[in-house]
Amino acid sequence: MSADLWNSATVVLETNWAHDHMVPSRRLYPHQWSWDAAFTAIGLAYVNPTRAWRDLRSLFEAQWPDGRVPHIVFDPRTAEGDYFPGPAFWDVPAYGRRAARGSTGLVQPPLHAVAVWEVYRRASAHGADCAHEAGEQLKWLYPRLVAQQDYLSLHRDAAGTGLASIVHPWESGLDNSPSWDSAMAGVPADMNLLVRFQRRDLEVADAAHRPLDIDYARYLGLVLTYRDRGYSDTDLAERHGFVVECPAFNAILAAAELTLAHIAAVVGADPRRHVERARCITTAISQRLWDAESRTFRSRDLRTGQLSPARAINGMVPLILPGLPEDQAAAIMAEAASPRFGLPETTGLPVPSFDRTSPDFDTLRYWRGPIWINVNWLLRRGMLVHGYRVEAEDLRTAMIRLIEESGHYEYFHPKSGEGIGAPTFSWTAALSLDLLADQAVPASARAT
Ligand code: GLC
Repeated sequence: MSADLWNSATVVLETNWAHDHMVPSRRLYPHQWSWDAAFTAIGLAYVNPTRAWRDLRSLFEAQWPDGRVPHIVFDPRTAEGDYFPGPAFWDVPAYGRRAARGSTGLVQPPLHAVAVWEVYRRASAHGADCAHEAGEQLKWLYPRLVAQQDYLSLHRDAAGTGLASIVHPWESGLDNSPSWDSAMAGVPADMNLLVRFQRRDLEVADAAHRPLDIDYARYLGLVLTYRDRGYSDTDLAERHGFVVECPAFNAILAAAELTLAHIAAVVGADPRRHVERARCITTAISQRLWDAESRTFRSRDLRTGQLSPARAINGMVPLILPGLPEDQAAAIMAEAASPRFGLPETTGLPVPSFDRTSPDFDTLRYWRGPIWINVNWLLRRGMLVHGYRVEAEDLRTAMIRLIEESGHYEYFHPKSGEGIGAPTFSWTAALSLDLLADQAVPASARAT
């Protein structure tokens, strides 16, 4: 059975490879996405390390001079009409050696240092040639990963709290999560934008799964205001409509610093600044994004100062941080095991993206209920980091079972486990390789 899964995963990754990068899905997402590249590289490392490095390098070749790594790198071979919002909508000026309209101006969670380290670890075990290539790639990527972290920690610390803010729900990677509902309610929805610009996602995916028109109007409006100010981050908290601190985004930011400490040690740089930064971000998450009453992590809207009322999957991702206080780690595990989410021991399934008991829980609509493999993969890592080995193993086997039974889908129905969204989705395939192969405790859990 597992051999079949391994083989089908490699076929998906073969099919979705496009010249010098991986697309998340041929029809729905025909360009390169930032955090998808990180998840994908982790799986590619087992079957084609050269492509894993190529994919990560393609992404970082599109890094902006200010350090931001764009959330989409546009493939010039893909027609404008094949994806919306495409290059013309974002209208990014030329930068570095890149032509205009080559990327978006938003970011996604910075999981790349973690991915780079995982690829390095695997590749170095594959003989001298691979090890040499891996060392060279690490040297090329290290300063770029540092610049990415610097951009997020300096330009995006909108309130000076030590946390990075996202300026658009798309930056979280959890596009229409209920975690953004309260902050989005304050963003003007200009429905005319949907007349001026045509959504394309509804042509290639089921409308019942996708964000609502009102959400989409707000998404477009937020991009336009950010774009019209040249994608500048000055005075974000005062002038931008959506400025939010997300617990998952920041946990990934801190995990990246911890991993950079390992990378720094290999390339001869100083690991200490990374360890120190990871400590500061972890403390800030633990203090600012913790709702003491419900004992859960929430996103914080900087415009109102309020924590979101929604209990969503992003509140569980801080578990990946070894420095998280144990009582908060235990509270995350309690929340995951509760009827609001449910662990495989009781549901037979990985964890859904949103609170099953909420009236807003929606079994089909993207990040408002369905099961996603990438966040479950992070959750399992967190369980390993904090010593929840039995639960981690249960979650690993539940993910493998789900993908074996339903296929390499983009997301899954949280009650039936049926596959929904794109049927041959890159990160589901890539992470299934990692889940089949890797049972080790992540490097970030160990001291440097
Ligand atoms: C959707 C997802 C996002 C992902 C992208 C490409 O926008 O919400 O996380 O990166 O698709 O797969």
